[in-house]
Amino acid sequence: MRVLGVSGSPTKDSNTDALVKAILEATGAETEFIKLSEIKVGPCIACMKCVYTNECVLKDDFKWLSKKVMEADAIVVGSPTYYGSASAFMKAFIERLYSKRHIKLLMRGKIAATVAVGVAAEKMVAEWMGNALRAGGMEIVGSMTAKGTPCCFVCGPGETCDYTVWNAYSKELTGIDFGVGEAYKEYLEVLPDNVPYARGSAKFLKSYRSVKDEPPVIAEAEKIGKMIRERIESGR
Ligand SMILES: Cc1cc2nc3c(=O)[nH]c(=O)nc-3n(C[C@H](O)[C@H](O)[C@H](O)COP(=O)(O)O)c2cc1C
Repeated sequence: MRVLGVSGSPTKDSNTDALVKAILEATGAETEFIKLSEIKVGPCIACMKCVYTNECVLKDDFKWLSKKVMEADAIVVGSPTYYGSASAFMKAFIERLYSKRHIKLLMRGKIAATVAVGVAAEKMVAEWMGNALRAGGMEIVGSMTAKGTPCCFVCGPGETCDYTVWNAYSKELTGIDFGVGEAYKEYLEVLPDNVPYARGSAKFLKSYRSVKDEPPVIAEAEKIGKMIRERIESGR
């Protein structure tokens, strides 16, 4: 039983990496973890040369990575949330899986799970990845999201910047309550004089949020790992 984990987070030892790895470990299978930012997988160029061969003609690391995907009984994909979307690393990887779809739907029935980490819009990312993999014929057996460390916690001027991620996703600006204040209440106090995109005013109570300190989040990842194992075993 082989399970492949693919992370689209470029951050070293990121929360995305931690959750993908926790899922892999809980499968109890032979696993491999690939960080897309450490290899070269560019975007699809829509040349359509893969239509009859199901092989992408671009010469980069997708060549060997796609073989690993095809050989795996299951794949676990994880991405941070960038601009309400998957990271460009993950987007490129999923675009390139397009080569496996044409005519034969080569990934039909492959088991998959998705992980998205973000501050406000991670559910959109998990949903997008799930839909994209499903379009490739895969069966999504588990999907989870988790709150991560906003870059504004670690960038330097985050307490006074007008354009922080919580200001970008504020109700004042978007008309939608993404629940950032509630989700980060132990980490972040947005001060009364804060005005999104006009005057940034916040106090950091803790400067790093790690899923490793959140047992229920890790437990959810482990549950998905076990579900993957059971699903692979039931299909044999
Ligand atoms: C370029 C960029 C854009 C981002 N855009 C969003 C966003 O639209 N929504 C959001 O919730 N978080 C956004 N973030 C914050 C990341 O999702 C957040 O830092 C996440 O915890 C990163 O996960 P990782 O540490 O596992 O890579 C953005 C971060 C970067 C670097």
